[in-house]
Amino acid sequence: MARFGALILAALLGAVAAQAQTTPPPAPRPQLRFGFYKHSCPPAEVIVRDAVRNAIIANPGLGAGLIRMAFHDCFVQGCDASILLDPTPANLRPEKVSGPNFPSMRGFDVIDAAKAALERFCPGVVSCADVVQFAARDAAFFLSGFRVDYKLPAGRLDGRVSLESEALAFLPPPSFNLSELVDSFKVKGLDIDDLVVLSGSHTIGRSHCSSFSDRISMPPSDMDPGMAFVLKGECPANPNFTKDPTVVQDFVTPDKLDNQYYKNVLKHKVLFNSDAALLTSTQTARKVVENAFVRGRWEKKFAKAMVKMAAV
Ligand code: HEM
Ligand SMILES: *[C@@H]1O[C@H](CO)[C@@H](O)[C@H](O)[C@H]1NC(C)=O
Ligand SMILES: *[C@@H]1O[C@H](CO)[C@@H](O)[C@H](O)[C@H]1NC(C)=O
Repeated sequence: MARFGALILAALLGAVAAQAQTTPPPAPRPQLRFGFYKHSCPPAEVIVRDAVRNAIIANPGLGAGLIRMAFHDCFVQGCDASILLDPTPANLRPEKVSGPNFPSMRGFDVIDAAKAALERFCPGVVSCADVVQFAARDAAFFLSGFRVDYKLPAGRLDGRVSLESEALAFLPPPSFNLSELVDSFKVKGLDIDDLVVLSGSHTIGRSHCSSFSDRISMPPSDMDPGMAFVLKGECPANPNFTKDPTVVQDFVTPDKLDNQYYKNVLKHKVLFNSDAALLTSTQTARKVVENAFVRGRWEKKFAKAMVKMAAV
């Protein structure tokens, strides 16, 4: 019996070894826990929060970048910090240089600062993947005036696979319609409610003109004509890499993480087709109305959805 077991084991190992030559072994799925660094690095979460606080005092836009970074990390290879990897001779085109991330993604310096402080206190303990998700949590905390306040389980592992092609395949572009958006979230285990709730992030930060230029040119989109007129004044007719200014996403409370986004959606005063698309089904439109008018509802849901996304 023992010999038989050993044979099976040997066969299995052989199969694993054979597979390892072609594809890397699948990453183990870490079990996330609250207070993961309680013993191994007690000040970990405080250190990240301090770095994020300092950054946001200097520039609230960095907080917006950090929240977006958490999303873009989780949707490609899971939340594994693969978005942080720079090009190397062996991998010239990582996620970081892909269109959805470059040149628009910001906040990398904040992660570096947090990581540097962590290395001084507890070298080699805290994963970059956890730092990215903690940083987004803390950015939400400060930009919401402490209203979005949630605990985040940790223990994520850092990945080493980072491919531009996967960023292009999995990050939804702003031109997507509702069914395309729903599908891109579904693939990551997120549902329609998560889509509506997380899209509320577009209540802070900026966008480059190139991300919505289709919506302010002919033929006219469903964007509010007054807003389209203002944007035409801020954007060149054909934005390109050398000339691509930015505008704020939420012109009412640009640096506040609040439910203003949903009021903007209802007034057709949002930048992207993906934002406007939330009104194209009665199911999602109803959720937009709830988030816009039920006081405190969105903040709670957002915290929950961020925790869910951070487990992808
Ligand atoms: C539903 C599909 C989504 C699409 C199509 C989308 C698309 C975009 C685009 C095109 C920009 C502007 C980038 C630029 O030109 O600078 C942007 C910005 C932003 N997005 Fe999204 N996004 C989506 C979902 C999300 C989610 C789920 C989050 C976070 C949980 C998020 C957070 C942000 C933030 C905070 C910004 C502002 C970034 C900054 O100011 O640097 N977005 N998004
Ligand atoms: C969304 O776009 C896809 C691909 O272009 C198309 O097949 C689908 O019918 C569209 N869905 C809606 C609801 O317009
Ligand atoms: C980029 O766009 C600007 C303004 O539309 C234009 O003046 C410039 O020539 C363009 N540059 C390139 C490289 O296409």
